[in-house]
Amino acid sequence: MRKKIVAGNWKMNKTPKQAVELVNSLKDKINTSAVDVVVCPTFVCLQAVLEAVKGTNIAVGAQNMYFEENGAYTGEISPEMLTSMGVKYVIIGHSERRQYFAETNETVNKKTLKAIEHKLIPIVCVGESLAEREQGITIDLVRLQTKIALKDVNKEDAKNVVIAYEPIWAIGTGKTATNEQAEEVCKAIRDVVSEIYDVETGDAVRVQYGGSVNAGNANALFNMGNIDGGLVGGASLKEEFASIVNY
Ligand code: 13P
Repeated sequence: MRKKIVAGNWKMNKTPKQAVELVNSLKDKINTSAVDVVVCPTFVCLQAVLEAVKGTNIAVGAQNMYFEENGAYTGEISPEMLTSMGVKYVIIGHSERRQYFAETNETVNKKTLKAIEHKLIPIVCVGESLAEREQGITIDLVRLQTKIALKDVNKEDAKNVVIAYEPIWAIGTGKTATNEQAEEVCKAIRDVVSEIYDVETGDAVRVQYGGSVNAGNANALFNMGNIDGGLVGGASLKEEFASIVNY
C-alpha cells in the first residue's frame, strides 16, 4: 500500500518570518501520520522552517537544486547544502523552471540522479501545456518526460522517487483537471515506470497530482486509484493546506 504524500510548493512567496508563521499555524492542525507531509519554502526560509517543524510530522523540501557538487555556479545551491540542513525532499523540473529557467528533460535527469546520490527524495514534475493537451499528445509527452527523468536511475532508487503530474493549464488557474483526466495520466506514468523496471516498481512509485488542488477537490482526487496525493501551490500558502492534508 502506497503512503499518500501531500507537499506544499510555496514558490516565490513568504519571508522567513512569514514562513514560520505559516508553519506554526499548520502544526496543530496537521495531526496525521497516515500521510507524508512536506512543505517546500524558498531557500532563504529553509533554516527557519526546519527549526519550526522540529518534533512534528512535517518534512521540509527545497524547490530546486543544482546537479554539481560545488564550484563556480553563481546563484546555485548544491544537494549537500540541503542535506546538511536537514532537508529531505527536492522538487525537480517544475514547469515554471522549465518555462522560465530553461530546464530541460536532460537537466531534470541530472538533478534526479544527483538528488538520489545524496539521499534526497526527488519530486519530479511532469505535465503538458494546454496546446499539447489539445493536440492529443499528453500521454506521449508525460511518458517521455518520465522516461528521461529516470534514465540511469536504478530500480530500488526509482521506487522512492515521487512523480508529480502537473498539467500546466491547471497551475494557478483554478482550473483543476477532472478526477478522470488526472487519474488517466497518473496511471500512464505508473505504467511507464512498470515498463522501464517492473510492475513491483510501478506499484511502489508515488504519483501526485498538482494543479489548483484545494480543500474542496483534494478528497476526490486523492481517492483515485493511481493518485497518491498532491503537490499544492496556492492553497499551501494558507491554513487550507491542513484541510488538504487531512482530506
Ligand atoms: P497551484 O496549486 O497554485 O495551481 O500550483 C500547483 C503547482 O504548481 C504546485 O507545484
